[in-house]
Amino acid sequence: MISFNKLKPALLEEMTEGEIVKCLKELSQAFTQSRHKIDDVYASPKHISSYASFYLPTNMYKMAFLLKQLPNELIEGIKNSTVVEVGTGPGTYLFGLLEELNCEMTSFIGVDHSPLMLKQAEKIHQSLYPCSDITWRSDIPKLPGRKTYIFGNSLNEMGHYTGLKLVNRNKADIVICIEPGTKSSFKEMSSFRSGMIKDGYKVIYPCSGEGECPIIKLDEDDWCHQVVRTKLDDSIERLSQLIKLDRKTMPAIIHVYTKDKVENNRKYQVVRLVKNIKHAFLWEVCFEDAGEMKLVRIELMKKIYKKKEVKALESMSTGYEIDFTIDKKIESNHWRVKLTPEVLEKIVNKK
Ligand SMILES: C[S@@+](CC[C@H](N)C(=O)[O-])C[C@H]1O[C@@H](n2cnc3c(N)ncnc32)[C@H](O)[C@@H]1O
Repeated sequence: MISFNKLKPALLEEMTEGEIVKCLKELSQAFTQSRHKIDDVYASPKHISSYASFYLPTNMYKMAFLLKQLPNELIEGIKNSTVVEVGTGPGTYLFGLLEELNCEMTSFIGVDHSPLMLKQAEKIHQSLYPCSDITWRSDIPKLPGRKTYIFGNSLNEMGHYTGLKLVNRNKADIVICIEPGTKSSFKEMSSFRSGMIKDGYKVIYPCSGEGECPIIKLDEDDWCHQVVRTKLDDSIERLSQLIKLDRKTMPAIIHVYTKDKVENNRKYQVVRLVKNIKHAFLWEVCFEDAGEMKLVRIELMKKIYKKKEVKALESMSTGYEIDFTIDKKIESNHWRVKLTPEVLEKIVNKK
């Protein structure tokens, strides 16, 4: 993964740490409270350099997390397509893919309507990935062949309607969305999901089917999201502490769709680590049952796991696919379960 120190020479502006921290605080405020200021920050080289210093390397972990959840045939599908990131900013998820996949033969296109973001992306490209085939543009060109589209923290800015129009107009084969893990972004993503299903796409992640989301059905104030937990490089951890923004635990809403013939064999999706009580972990899982999506609370008794396993379960990200055997149905929607050895091994080894 790229560290802040490695990125420094590739930033648009040379900045002191104090300047970066100030700009990052302003960016964070623009993202969470003053959305009307977003265009101003995207027109400022200092803010863009700060975004690239901090959000690019931390967001990239979300791509690494996602790739571990996808079936191999879908990953091959991505490698054998032209990958377009819409709203690429400094090139975040294209570089994220380059870091994770052996994909020298894949062509990439980074699209953004901020000329300064594109300039920043190009500078990082030339400096850190000079041999990769990436084109930077303000619009999506007509492309022959297979296409993968990535929306990285951009659907919530452009809205689901524009996103659906772009996907349809350009006939994307695979669509990946990695959006903020917030309630408002979930509203956009729920509308996007419905639109994609209507347009004939299958959901590959995070759901195990195309049925109505049980989270919205049960509580319209609730939202489904993943929580990506990771360790940070020291240089990024320092920035994170200075701006008081935790990036070791990152909520995100991650969806993957395709029209390809890829089997969705997901069993149970961990939606939430509800509670870590003395004797057990309580988790919420989502699954498909006869075409209907359901939510169930599961209980994992700690005493049956080794110390090392309990530690791994404690620090797990949500959004994992798991499988288990049911020991006891305490209630119809509350089961005591045992993870399968394969799943446990995956969690312990962070595969
Ligand atoms: C928060 S940044 C995300 C950058 C990068 N994808 C990431 O996740 O780190 C959102 C980017 O989307 C771009 N954007 C928003 N709406 C867009 C649109 N309709 N067309 C192209 N770019 C757009 C913005 O200019 C900005 O660079």
